[in-house]
Amino acid sequence: MCGIIGFIGETIKGTVITDALKKLEYRGYDSWGTAFLSENKIEFFKQTGQINGIPEKIKKINSSLAIGHTRWATHGKISKVNAHPHVSVNNDLALVHNGIIENFSELKEKLSDKNFFSETDSEVILKLIEEKVNSGKSLFNAVSESVSLLKGSFALLVFSSKEKDKLIAVKHESPLLLGITEKGIFAASDQIPLSNFTNQFVFLEDGDIALIEKNNFKVFDFSLNEIKREIIKVESEITSSGKLKYSHFMLKEIMEQPFVLKSVLSQEEKNFNEISSLIKDSNLFFIGNGTSFNAGLFGKEFFSRIAGINPQVIEASEFPYVLDFIPENSVIFALSQSGETADVLDSVKKAKKKNLKIISMVNVFNSSLARLSDKVIYLNCGEEIGVASTKAFTSQVSLLYLLANSVKGNFNKALNELNELSFKMTEVIELNKNSVKELSHKIKSSKDVFFIGRSLNYGVALEASLKLKEISYIHAEAFQAGSLKHGPLALISDNVPVVVIAPKDKVFSDTLNNAIQAKARGAFIIGVSDENNNEFDFFIKLPKVNELLFPLISIIPLQLLAFHTAVFLERNPDKPKNLAKSVTVK
Ligand code: M6R
Repeated sequence: MCGIIGFIGETIKGTVITDALKKLEYRGYDSWGTAFLSENKIEFFKQTGQINGIPEKIKKINSSLAIGHTRWATHGKISKVNAHPHVSVNNDLALVHNGIIENFSELKEKLSDKNFFSETDSEVILKLIEEKVNSGKSLFNAVSESVSLLKGSFALLVFSSKEKDKLIAVKHESPLLLGITEKGIFAASDQIPLSNFTNQFVFLEDGDIALIEKNNFKVFDFSLNEIKREIIKVESEITSSGKLKYSHFMLKEIMEQPFVLKSVLSQEEKNFNEISSLIKDSNLFFIGNGTSFNAGLFGKEFFSRIAGINPQVIEASEFPYVLDFIPENSVIFALSQSGETADVLDSVKKAKKKNLKIISMVNVFNSSLARLSDKVIYLNCGEEIGVASTKAFTSQVSLLYLLANSVKGNFNKALNELNELSFKMTEVIELNKNSVKELSHKIKSSKDVFFIGRSLNYGVALEASLKLKEISYIHAEAFQAGSLKHGPLALISDNVPVVVIAPKDKVFSDTLNNAIQAKARGAFIIGVSDENNNEFDFFIKLPKVNELLFPLISIIPLQLLAFHTAVFLERNPDKPKNLAKSVTVK
């Protein structure tokens, strides 16, 4: 996790770096820091917490060489000293790091200077470089020799006040790219902080060291052979990276979902046909984490019900343990909004070693996952900034529906259905936006909230409970409705909210019976359905749609419920505690 940014070029204001860093905060926001070359010296600033109010000193700084970091703590507690950048004893070297150095204790043992300011693994890298620079090596040679000793994942940016025309960037298993502008070159964890400056990027690969100067850059491998890396122009479909009229990114992203369904219309049929042929006769495995895993559950349902394929869905962190038992003609279908999730990348790399085909569904263009894949479907839903995934989920589920239909030759039919559904989605938002706010007021002091559903709607229960717990910090759990009586009913007492996701389909009466069993023990029943029922204490009204598409509309009010509950509890839904948007550690 963590976000890093760097710049070398014409003189810029210090706030250019902090503004960019703010856009990276979704990757971690425990603490932050910057280092600038200013009048031939390194000036650095560190603070715990989020970037709120830029220190006057930074506002006054003008610099042509700078780095910044926003942290999600791994090694060492959240504190000012553990915040990056790490700066050398002589104040002539500054470094930021995203990743984890697995052999940092061994390396620490070997260092002659054992005086560390921080508890981080990252400072070891700085010390290694410092020792080599002090023994007379150039910064570039010191960095390249040092990184050869590291085990783990690292995206690094380093500069020295003694070689002020250079910024060194290293990438190994943590994301890093260069953004090329007329005024200089940026390096950053992803494209988002650079969207106002450029659409020309160099996507560094694992094992790359970039020597960046004001107007040019060269890339080498760790043995210092020069490598050609192209500048790629990204024609962005990205929507505005601001919050627009909304109080939070999450709310904006929830409201954008009808348009997300419309954006499905721009998917290329040819790509879907090619992917359909690849998966038609294969053993198919969906992998993903969190919301992307939940989306995979719908993939499984769609593929078995529509296309007659029976895929498995495996949490990406568990996938390496089953890889040995997977048949040779398997296709791995990786789902990830960011395309940088470490568990997914690790699984995919291991699957590739077994020569398995990789298909991915990803939002961030040219992300690590996209580059590792044989075929990619892009979500095209625009930047998702809120830590809680909302519109990416809608995009994943609708594209999986489209793909399952495409296997059966029904690509265009499904496109039309999704287009129609976008209008229903707008209706759902209008119907429920006020009542759900009222409901959030009711549940905000609950200790537990349970979500139940059967069949496809169990997936909605899982996703809705993940949303509520991650941003409101209320304990929320999902159950298959029929399993309540096998244990969870013991948790029900007076007024415990139970959200029942139950369209009027074949399993409605069974689900309703489970809700009644909970109600008999005091539960407060919140019905999410296309038909009201006397057993519901609160009703979230949805229009009638094809039962396979019901999850795409029922999740919307439940995302809103999580959002408003968090806001009522004065918890920032965009940046929940202990989490980060892009989870780049295993
Ligand atoms: O970028 P990814 O889709 O790979 O991220 C996977 C999970 O980390 C992510 O969905 C996470 O669970 C969200 N915070 C859920 O809202």
